[in-house]
Amino acid sequence: MARPLFITFEGLDGSGKSSHLRRTEEWLAAAGVVFARTHEPGGTPLGEAIRGVFLDKRWGAVDGTVELLLVFASRRQHLVEVIDPALARGEHVLCDRFTDSTLAYQGAGRGVPRPLIDQVDQLATGLRRPDRTLLFDLPPEVARERGQRDRHGKTGTDRLDDEALGFYRRVREGFLSLAQAEPGRFVVIDSSGPAEHTENAVRRALADLLPGAGP
Ligand code: TMP
Repeated sequence: MARPLFITFEGLDGSGKSSHLRRTEEWLAAAGVVFARTHEPGGTPLGEAIRGVFLDKRWGAVDGTVELLLVFASRRQHLVEVIDPALARGEHVLCDRFTDSTLAYQGAGRGVPRPLIDQVDQLATGLRRPDRTLLFDLPPEVARERGQRDRHGKTGTDRLDDEALGFYRRVREGFLSLAQAEPGRFVVIDSSGPAEHTENAVRRALADLLPGAGP
């Protein structure tokens, strides 16, 4: 069996990454690929509790460094309890968001300095990075509209959904500059068009996971 891969799906809220992750699960499972699917913040009982605190609107404006500490506390538990054990069992791990989200949201979005993020990252994960990251890219205006449409009639907004578009522009630029800095790890997928186009790009990016795809 090929080496199990740690693969993340990243992008703005409303970029379609989570629904494409669900579709990906379906076709990988149908092909008999063994994988674990998880997400951040959360992915463990403790992480879900932290997620609840992180997204709660009652706190109003939360300092970027406080956000940083919350997401890395969740992440450490997630690595130890879920991600590393799944990889050790030989399962690929498909994870909705990881540290790139922190670099984009708390770093580029909130302005937390990179050296500070790296310090906490070193402590929490030893600067761990995924093997491959699919970045679902689209303009924040489109992402916002889609997010609103998808939420219609469901749950209300969370603390970060209420951020101004300027925040999301910085987050998008943050993601794109991470992708530019590590072209070997990132696959940037234009998710502004029809879902089928995006899905085809996802299938191409993960084709080597299928049985018989070769090394
Ligand atoms: P989700 O809606 O994709 O589950 O993500 C929840 C929110 O948390 C989303 O607005 C992005 C934000 N977030 C951060 O700000 N920093 C992080 O490190 C992570 C993982 C998520």
